[in-house]
Amino acid sequence: MDSTRSHEALLTMKLLALSGSLRRNSYNSAALVALTRLAPSNLEITIGDIGSLPLFNPDIENNDIAAVQQLKSQLAQASGLIIASPEYAHGISGPMKNALDWLVSGVEFPYKPVMLINTSPRASHALNALIEVVTTMSGDIIDSASVTIPLLSSELDADGIVENREISAVLSNGLKEFCQKIEASIP
Ligand SMILES: Cc1cc2nc3c(=O)[nH]c(=O)nc-3n(C[C@H](O)[C@H](O)[C@H](O)COP(=O)(O)O)c2cc1C
Repeated sequence: MDSTRSHEALLTMKLLALSGSLRRNSYNSAALVALTRLAPSNLEITIGDIGSLPLFNPDIENNDIAAVQQLKSQLAQASGLIIASPEYAHGISGPMKNALDWLVSGVEFPYKPVMLINTSPRASHALNALIEVVTTMSGDIIDSASVTIPLLSSELDADGIVENREISAVLSNGLKEFCQKIEASIP
């Protein structure tokens, strides 16, 4: 590996994080905010806005839609994608599936390293569906970096997650593993 390039990647790594919940006090969004606070200073995590995306429609796929362009641009600039998304009726949340549908035909998503954060240990259907969808879209799920944390009914916000030693350690370790796997894959 070219040491200059590797060093540069260490200094400038950018990640995009998406929450599948639009709820104000969302545990999934809180987990991502906590992750930004736990991240080392050489890591830039941008939390994307999927709530402004229109409903996916192939008829308008090539239109110049600001929210879609922003999402694609943020993903293109990111070395990896972090997804935290809730289970709704045993499925992927509508906002997250909608966001992924906007990315299906683009060049930004395929082969992108993906870290999955599941905030509810009991919610396996949505997680399995997400794994199927992301894999179908040729995303590269990093299993060793993907984590489950027990936030459901915890009443924890982002600050509370950061202050919770066990949960913040799981998030930090997952993030560290994710970055290491990304760095190791840089040719
Ligand atoms: C419409 C709806 C359907 C839900 N369906 C399920 C479900 O099938 N399985 C489950 O484990 N939790 C289910 N839940 C609970 C959510 O996954 C849980 O409230 C989660 O914390 C929501 O994520 P958020 O806190 O990021 O908004 C459902 C919640 C809602 C609002």
